[in-house]
Amino acid sequence: MAETFDLVIRGGRVMTPSGQAETSVGVRDGRIAAIGDLAESSAGEVFEADGLTVLPGVIDTQVHFREPGNEHKEDLAHGSRAAVAGGVTAVFEMPNTKPATVTADALNDKLKRAEGMWCDHAFFIGAALDNHDDLAELEQLPGCCGVKLFMGSSTGGLLVDEDTAIASVLAHGRRRVAIHAEDEPRLVERKHLAEEEGHARAHPVWRDVETALRATKRIVALAREANRPVHVLHITTAEEIAFLGTVKDVATVECLPQHLTLTAPDCYERLGGYAQMNPPIREARHQAGLWAGINQGIVDVLGSDHAPHTKEEKEQTYPASPSGMPGVQTILPLMLNHVAEGRLTLERVIDLLCYGPQRIYNIRGKGRIAVGYDADFTLVDLKAKRTINAADQHTKSGWTPFDGMDVTGWPMATIIRGHTAMRDGKLAAEAGGKPVRFWDTPEK
Ligand code: DOR
Repeated sequence: MAETFDLVIRGGRVMTPSGQAETSVGVRDGRIAAIGDLAESSAGEVFEADGLTVLPGVIDTQVHFREPGNEHKEDLAHGSRAAVAGGVTAVFEMPNTKPATVTADALNDKLKRAEGMWCDHAFFIGAALDNHDDLAELEQLPGCCGVKLFMGSSTGGLLVDEDTAIASVLAHGRRRVAIHAEDEPRLVERKHLAEEEGHARAHPVWRDVETALRATKRIVALAREANRPVHVLHITTAEEIAFLGTVKDVATVECLPQHLTLTAPDCYERLGGYAQMNPPIREARHQAGLWAGINQGIVDVLGSDHAPHTKEEKEQTYPASPSGMPGVQTILPLMLNHVAEGRLTLERVIDLLCYGPQRIYNIRGKGRIAVGYDADFTLVDLKAKRTINAADQHTKSGWTPFDGMDVTGWPMATIIRGHTAMRDGKLAAEAGGKPVRFWDTPEK
C-alpha cells in the first residue's frame, strides 16, 4: 500500500547528513517520516522545491527579543516573525530583559508569552550575583537552553565579573555555560577613551583586543578548574581564535556574521552608532582571523546576536548610544552570500547553523534532515540575487546595518515541524512556535 504523508517536499536538492541528494522528504505528525523516492506515496500537501536547496532548519542560538521590559525595541512576536522571514526555525533568547531571566518565574513568564512566537524557541537563564545556588535546578527547567554569564557589562544589568563568583556559577549545574567574555575591570579603566572621542569609532579602542582576550583566557582557565564546558560567544579577535584552537576540549566557540562581514574603521565612519555592538567590530586583520577560525573548524556555531535598539537610541551621541544591532533576519542571507563568494561551503554553513547548535546545546530531535527528527527545513535559492532592505525587516526597530547590500542566495521557505511558517517572503497567518527540547532537561 502506498505510504501517506502530511507533507512531501519534492524536486529539491536535499542536504542530508550523507551529502546532497536529489530526493524527496516525507513528513508525518511534524516529523521526518521518510527520505527517498516517494513518487508512489500520497500526501496532504506537496511542496514543489524545484530549483531550491533544502537545508535542516536554521537555529539561531543568540537573540535578544527584549520582552518583557523593552518592547519598544523588539518583542517576541516581531523578533520571531523576523526569524522565519530570514529562514530561521528556532531561536535561543538571551536573559537581559526587564526583569532579567534569573528565576523560574521569569523563565515561565517568557514561555507563556512565547506561545505567540512564529518560530520554536528556548530561553537562557542569566547568572546573577544572587542566584548561583539555584542555577543547577534552573538550567534543567523545560524550555531553558542553559545559563548565560556576562563577564563584562553590556546592555542591561547582568554581570558576574569576579573570578570567585564565576567559579561559583560554574560549580552549580553541569550544562555548557554561554559566556560574554569582556574583562570588566579593563572596560571600567578605559571607558574614558570612549567618552573623550565621542564617536563610535572609539568603540574597538575602548573595548580593545586585550579586553576580549583577557576575559576569554580567564573563563577557559576557570572552566578547566571547574571541569565544566563553556561556550564563548561572539569571538572578535584573531588572538582569541588562535588561543581557542588550543582548548577545544573545554570551550566551544561562536562567531557572528556581523564580524565576518563588516570591518573597522569603515563601518564606524559609514554607520556611526549603528555599527556599535559588544564586543566590537574590528579591523580586517581580525576578520581574517575569524575566517581562519571558520575554515579550520575552530568555530562551532554562528549566532546573530540580534540585539535591536530604536533608531532614536542609536543616534544618541556615543557612548550614550546603546550597543547591538538586529540580525536574525539577515544571518542566513549573509552566510549564503559568503558561500556564493567562495568564503566557505554550504556544508560548513549547515555545520555552523544546524549541526553545531544541536551538538553544543544537546538539542533533542532537531538540526538534521534524518528520519525521526522534527520536520524543520529552510529552503533556499542559492542563485537568487536580492538586496537587503531596511523596509523589509520585521524587527520592531525597523533598521539593519546591511541596508542596500546586494546578496546572492536567499531563504525562500521556512518549515517548522511540517508547517510552512514562511514561503516566498509571506508569513503564515498564525504563530505556531513551540519550546525546543533538550537532552539535559528531563521530561516526565
Ligand atoms: O551589542 C550587544 N548588545 N552585545 C551584548 O552583549 C548585548 C546586546 C544587547 O542586548 O543589546
